[in-house]
Amino acid sequence: MKINLNNINHSYHGKAILQDISLKLEHAEAIAIIGPSGAGKSTLLRLMSKIENPDAGEIFVNDIDVVLTEAKDYYKKVGFVFQSHNLFPHLTALRNITLVLEKVHNKTPQEATKLAIDLLTQFELVEHMNKKPIQLSGGQAQRVSIIRSLAINPEVMFLDEPTSALDPILTREVLRTILKLREKNMRFVIVTHELGFAKKVADYILYMEDGRIVEHGPTSILENPKTESLKEFVEFVME
Ligand SMILES: Nc1ncnc2c1ncn2[C@@H]1O[C@H](COP(=O)(O)OP(=O)(O)OP(=O)(O)O)[C@@H](O)[C@H]1O
Ligand SMILES: [Mg+2]
Repeated sequence: MKINLNNINHSYHGKAILQDISLKLEHAEAIAIIGPSGAGKSTLLRLMSKIENPDAGEIFVNDIDVVLTEAKDYYKKVGFVFQSHNLFPHLTALRNITLVLEKVHNKTPQEATKLAIDLLTQFELVEHMNKKPIQLSGGQAQRVSIIRSLAINPEVMFLDEPTSALDPILTREVLRTILKLREKNMRFVIVTHELGFAKKVADYILYMEDGRIVEHGPTSILENPKTESLKEFVEFVME
């Protein structure tokens, strides 16, 4: 995937949050954004996924001009997964997936059902397909929302700390699902505080602090940080 950020600035209530972020990546396939709380990781992800537009600057994802593209067109090409699942509570796991395929992607009910069942089977969730979100465990619900994003075959998926609401066992299930996305060559940008997982799943790391990208590079920068900031962060998190 290609990511091109040009001089992005973003503030909330007059307070600068992202400060002049620029980045040009031609071939990163799985990018992990790491950094301390409040660094601006979620904000940057929200801008790349067009949940918000930046105050200033340009964002290109695979040559799509994100700021100028209509949200509804962009959302057909990308998927999102948030900290907690955002499944429709009144619909079954299966219907949560087929609804999007039918309404947004114009699949017939038969096509949508076949595709959804196929994915639920691959991700070992098919036995839960008739349950509503409240009847699923937190991990299962999060995995269904990952599959719902995947079902539209997006160019890129954006995931913001998809395991932060889960206990360690459920976290493992969800991380396994994300590793499987990687095996399927899905491209994604993930915000995560799980550095061990970032090492395993990502091929590129962005380290943010105070609204800036302080260091970025292949995953090996976690072993050999160039900046004191990343070095301290890695030592702190690994303790
Ligand atoms: N909608 C908003 N309105 C006002 N301030 C916001 C908003 N969203 C984020 N902020 C502020 O912007 C800064 C960066 O927030 P952001 O959520 O991007 O950080 P983060 O790196 O994702 O942190 P965490 O690891 O805790 O999730 C914080 O100071 C936060 O309080
Ligand atoms: Mg965040």
